Amino acid sequence: MTPNDPSISSSAPANSAASAPAQSGATRPARITIGALKKRTAPFACLTCYDATTAGWLTRAGVHVLLVGDTAAEMTLGFSRTLDMPLDVLLALTAGVKRGSERIATSRSLPQPMVMGDMPFMSYHAGGDDAMRNAGRFLTEGLADVVKLEVDTTFALLVERMTRAGIPVCAHIGSRPQRFMLSGGYAAAGRTPEEAKQIVADAQAMQDAGAPMLLLEAVPQTTADAVLKVARVPVIGIGAGAGCQGQVLVLNDLLGMTEKPPPFVAPIADVGAMIERAGRQWVETVERRGVGESPYSMRDGNRESAAGNREKPSG
Ligand code: KIV
Repeated sequence: MTPNDPSISSSAPANSAASAPAQSGATRPARITIGALKKRTAPFACLTCYDATTAGWLTRAGVHVLLVGDTAAEMTLGFSRTLDMPLDVLLALTAGVKRGSERIATSRSLPQPMVMGDMPFMSYHAGGDDAMRNAGRFLTEGLADVVKLEVDTTFALLVERMTRAGIPVCAHIGSRPQRFMLSGGYAAAGRTPEEAKQIVADAQAMQDAGAPMLLLEAVPQTTADAVLKVARVPVIGIGAGAGCQGQVLVLNDLLGMTEKPPPFVAPIADVGAMIERAGRQWVETVERRGVGESPYSMRDGNRESAAGNREKPSG
C-alpha cells in the first residue's frame, strides 16, 4: 500500500472520537474506503482483529480491512460458539481496534485500514428498529466504517433501510455461522445447484438493497464463480477460492494460534509456539529470581532507606 494506492482516500472525514489526534494538530491519516477498494485492480487483504495493539501492527503491515468479527467470542472470550458474543463487548473491541489503528496510522503517516464491525447474533434479528439502533451504535460507539450482517434475501428490506440511513453494510452470505443451531454446525454452503442458486440470489438481493460489499464464506469454487459473475460490488472471500477481490482469514488461524484451523487456512507463522516458549522462559526467569534489580532510584532529597535511616547529603 503506497500513498498513491487507489484504495486510499484522504478526503473522507474521520469520525468524532477517532479524529482526536487530528484535533490536536497531528495530520489526519488517509483512510481506506469501500469506494476506493472497488477501484483497485489488485486484490485486497482483510484480517480479523480484536484489540488496539494488534490493530497497530496490522496497520503497519498495510492490511486494508480489519474485521472485528464475532469470532472474538471464541478467540478472545473463550466461548465455543460465535453465537455467544455480547453486543456491548464487540462494540468496545471495535472501538479499540479503530483507535489502535488510527494511532499508528497518524504517528507513522500510514493509510488507515477500514474497520468492519460484525453485528453479533440477535443484534439485528429481533426487529427492524432494534437492528437499526444497534447498527448505528457500531458507527458511533464502535467507530466502525462498515457493519457486517449474516444475511439472505429475506434481509433485503433491513439492508435497504440501513443503506437509507447511511449505514454501509457488508452482506455476509454463503456459510453463516450464526445459524449454527439450525444447520447443526459450521459447514460449507452452496454445495448443490439449488443451494448455489440461492446464494447467487442472496448476493443479487443484497447489492440491489444497497450493500456496497459482500463477504462469501466457505463455498465451492463453482458457487464462488457464479456469485462473482453477478457481483457489482467487491466480494471478500473466506474459503471461497482465489477469484474474490478481497480475502479474509481469522488472524489467530493465520498466525498458528488455533489448534484446528479450517481447511482453507495455511498458517504462515507459529505464534502459538512462540508464546509458549516465551511463557516458559518467563516462568524459568521468575523461579530463579532473574528479574534484576528495580530500575528506579529514590527521588533527590528522599534517599531514605526502608529502615528509616536518612542518607547524608553528599558534598
Ligand atoms: O466473525 C468473523 O471473524 C467472520 C469471519 C470468519 C469472516 O465473520
